[in-house]
Amino acid sequence: MAVTLAFDVYGTLIDTHGVVLELEKLVGDRAPDFSRCWREKQLEYSFRRGLMQNYQSFAVCTKDALDYTCEFFRADISPAQKDHLLEAYRVLPAFDDVEEGLQRAKKSGFRMFAFSNGSPEAVTMLLVAAGIRDLFDGVVSVDEIKSFKPNPAVYSHFLRRSGSTGSEAWMISSNPFDVIGAVSAGMRAAWVRRSPAMVYDPWGIDPTLTVAGLDELADQVSAYRGVSDS
Ligand code: LAC
Repeated sequence: MAVTLAFDVYGTLIDTHGVVLELEKLVGDRAPDFSRCWREKQLEYSFRRGLMQNYQSFAVCTKDALDYTCEFFRADISPAQKDHLLEAYRVLPAFDDVEEGLQRAKKSGFRMFAFSNGSPEAVTMLLVAAGIRDLFDGVVSVDEIKSFKPNPAVYSHFLRRSGSTGSEAWMISSNPFDVIGAVSAGMRAAWVRRSPAMVYDPWGIDPTLTVAGLDELADQVSAYRGVSDS
């Protein structure tokens, strides 16, 4: 059976800190800290909404997190400027290694899906803007079952939607919580450790393998399968 790769989107394919240049115009040298806080709150809101079973789309989590972050930084950002930032968020850039890494994976014969907290429309828009939509067999979104990663139900949903089984389906993510969520739901997972400064959660639930960038992915997954099949 062909191996299926589920690519996380925000933070793995798409650089969520791509708004830093826009933010610099508004908050100066606080832009990197502002961007980090915005991203952390966005994820926290998705975790909390998942737990509370109080679903709103990831775009709502992003917007609410921006409002929180403006308040936290006492940043004087007008409603029109917030709208502009949220527009920039809808067309964030891909990381440099993404296109080549995806091309290699495609050539290796893997089935490829984007699998994200983002809605199908938001994810499709990002992938089209980054010029990589055609490399995927499909887009699977948590929005289809109104919950968020790392609820085990969303990984089961991915397996159903993609017609794959856990041992032949790999989550590809730079987000440790997503890797741990996928592995504990029975999938394999590659952690994309984009910088040596990234720390993995010490839960004892390790990634199946770790890559430094997407350009290494296809070879490493193929090598792992070669070893585990023999
Ligand atoms: C996603 C979040 C985890 O794209 O960034 O699913």
